[in-house]
Amino acid sequence: SISHVILTGGVGSRLWPLSRKSRPKQYLEIFDGKSLFEMTVDRNSNIADKIMVVGNIDNCHLSKAILEKSNTSYVDIIESTPRNTAAAIAFAAFASDPDDVLIVTPSDHIIGDMQSYEEAIDEAITKAIDGYIVTFGIIPTKPEIGYGYIERKGDDVISFREKPNQVTAADFIAKGNFLWNSGMFCFKASLFLEELEKYAPKVYEKAKIAWEKNIHGVIDLDASMEIPSISVDYAVMERSKKIKVVSSKFVWSDLGSFESVYDYLVSIGHPVDKNRNMVVGTDKFTSFIGMKDAIFIYTDTAHLILQKEFSQDVKNVYGMLEREN
Ligand code: GDD
Ligand code: MG
Repeated sequence: SISHVILTGGVGSRLWPLSRKSRPKQYLEIFDGKSLFEMTVDRNSNIADKIMVVGNIDNCHLSKAILEKSNTSYVDIIESTPRNTAAAIAFAAFASDPDDVLIVTPSDHIIGDMQSYEEAIDEAITKAIDGYIVTFGIIPTKPEIGYGYIERKGDDVISFREKPNQVTAADFIAKGNFLWNSGMFCFKASLFLEELEKYAPKVYEKAKIAWEKNIHGVIDLDASMEIPSISVDYAVMERSKKIKVVSSKFVWSDLGSFESVYDYLVSIGHPVDKNRNMVVGTDKFTSFIGMKDAIFIYTDTAHLILQKEFSQDVKNVYGMLEREN
C-alpha cells in the first residue's frame, strides 16, 4: 500500500518568532484559515491509502486536532525529542510493511498546480516500485544555500549536495544540470532501511532500538538521545547510489526562511516600501530609514528586525533562547 509520511517535528527555528516551539510554522493558520499542515494532508489525500505523522510530543496535539477534524485515519509516531529527519523517516519505515511505498513530505511547503504534482507523484511511485529512492527536483531560480542540490543527467542522479556554500551554489546554477531538492522523497520502506543501514549504520541501529521501545507510538526519550542527529539528506541522499530524480513542474515554495517567506509574500501582493522593506504581523505604521531589503517581524511576545540576506542566521537567535531557558 501507499503511505503518506508527514514530517512535522521540526521547530522551524529559522522563522522565529513567527514559528514557536509550542506552535511551529506549519500550524499557523496563515492561508485562508488553513495551516500548511492541513494543506499538506489535503494535497495527498487522493494519492495515499494512509497517513503516518511523525511529529513532536510538544505539539502533536496540533496535528491530531487537524486529522480528527478531517476524519482521516492515520498512524501517529511521536518523538519525545527531535533527532532529525533520518531517524524520523526510519521510524515511519519501521512502522510499515517492507513493500509499502512511502511518500515522505514536509508539512511546511506551498505547492501549486495539482495536476503537475500528481503526475510527479505517479512517476515517483513507479520508480519507487522499481527499487529506487526518488527525489523531486525543482528548477532552481537562484543560488539558495538553504537547499540540497541534485546533479542530474535525465532522471539519473550524478550527485546530491546538501546545503552548499554560496560560491558552490552559484557554480551549480551556472552548470545548468542541477535541481533543488524539494525535500520530498518516495521509496519502498525496505529500501530506505537497507540504505540507511549501509550508509548511516549507527542511526539505523539506534533508531531501531528506540522504535522497538515505543509505547503506543511514543518513542522512548533515553533511547532517542542515543540516535545521531543527522538529516536524511546527509545520511542517505548524499551517499546512496540508488537515487533517481523526478524533475517537477509544480509550483513549489519552501517557507523555510524569511527570505523565502518574503519572496512568497511579494508574489501574492504583500506590500513593501520603495527600498523593498517589509513588515509582517502588524498594521501599525512602521518606517524604515536608511535600510534596504529589511524585514520587521512583529508578534505579541517578540520582535525581529532582519536584513533579508541574513535569513539563515535566525536559527542562532532561537538556539540562544533555547540555551537561556
Ligand atoms: N518528525 C521530525 N523530526 N520532523 C523533522 C525533524 C525531526 O527531528 N527535523 C525536521 N523535521 C521536519 C521539518 O518539520 C520539515 O517538515 C522537514 O522535516 C524538513 O526539515 P527542515 O529542517 O525544514 O529541512 P531543510 O529545509 O533545512 O532542508 C530540507 O528541505 C529542503 C527543501 O525545503 C532538505 O531536504 C533540503 O535538501 C531541501 O532542499
Ligand atoms: Mg525546510
